[in-house]
Amino acid sequence: MIIDGKFIGQEIKADLKNEISHIRETYTRVPKLVVILVGDNQASMTYVKNKEKGCQYVGMDSAIVRMDETTSESVLIEKIVELNNQEDVDGILVQLPLPKHINEDLVLEAIVPSKDVDGFHPDNVAKLFLGMDSLVPCTPKGMMVMLDTIGCDLTGKHVVVVGRSNIVGKPVAMLCLQKNATVTMAHSKTKNLKEVCKSADVLILAVGRAKMFNHEYVGQNAIVLDVGINRDENNKLCGDVDFDDVVDCCQAITPVPGGVGPMTITMLLKNTVEAFYSRNK
Ligand code: GUN
Repeated sequence: MIIDGKFIGQEIKADLKNEISHIRETYTRVPKLVVILVGDNQASMTYVKNKEKGCQYVGMDSAIVRMDETTSESVLIEKIVELNNQEDVDGILVQLPLPKHINEDLVLEAIVPSKDVDGFHPDNVAKLFLGMDSLVPCTPKGMMVMLDTIGCDLTGKHVVVVGRSNIVGKPVAMLCLQKNATVTMAHSKTKNLKEVCKSADVLILAVGRAKMFNHEYVGQNAIVLDVGINRDENNKLCGDVDFDDVVDCCQAITPVPGGVGPMTITMLLKNTVEAFYSRNK
C-alpha cells in the first residue's frame, strides 16, 4: 500500500476550511499565521510559499515577513517580540535553517509558547515529553495522523526511528512511546543498522540522505514513513528510501513527494487553529 499524504492532507484541509468558515461567523476574525524568512535560501522560499498557499486554501490569514540574510539576531528577536504582542497573530513560525551568525535556540525561545505553532519552544518540548497538552511539531504530528488513518495501532509494536533531530526524530519517538510502542532511536553511529531497521514494524526514516535505505533495511510487514526530501543523481526529488526497491517488499510506504510533506503543512494549519482557540478561550 502507498500511503497518500496528499489525499489524507486534503481531507483534513477540507475540514479545516469548514471550521474556519464557522470561526469567521462566530468570532470577529480568523486565525492568522506569520512566517518569518531570513535570507533567500531557495528551498526555504518554496516551503514558505507553500505554507502561505495552505493558509489561503483554508481561508486563514497569513503574512510572510522577509528579512535580509545579514539581519542581526537582536533585530530578528525584536520582530518576534512585536509579533508576540500582536493580538491578531495566532501562530509565529521562523523558517529554519537560519544564517550561521544567528543562534537558533535563542530565536526559538523568543517565540511565546502559545503562538509556537512549530512546537519547538523548550516549554512545548517539555510538555510533549511529559505527555501534557501542547503544540506538537508538525511533521511528527502528521505521521501520527497517517498511522491512525491507515488503522495502525502502535501498542506493542516495534518502532525504529532513524535520525535524532529535534524537529522530527526526538518528538516522533516520544509520540510513538505515548501510543505504547517499543521505540528504538537509531542514528549514524548505530551498529548493525540494517538488522535494527529490519526488525521494525514501523520504520521512520529522517536522516536526509537520498535513497540510503533499500529492501535490505525493510521487513516484509513493515510500514515505512519516509521523511527525507532530497535530490537524486538526476536532480529529481526523492526520500531517504529507495522507493522503487522497497515498495513491493513492505506492507505500506509513504512516497516522496506526496507523503509526509503535505501532512506537515496541514498540521501547521491545524496547530494555528488550535493556537487561535486556546488564545480565544
Ligand atoms: N525547516 C525545515 N523543516 C522545518 C519546520 O518544520 N519548521 C521550520 N520552522 N523550519 C523548517
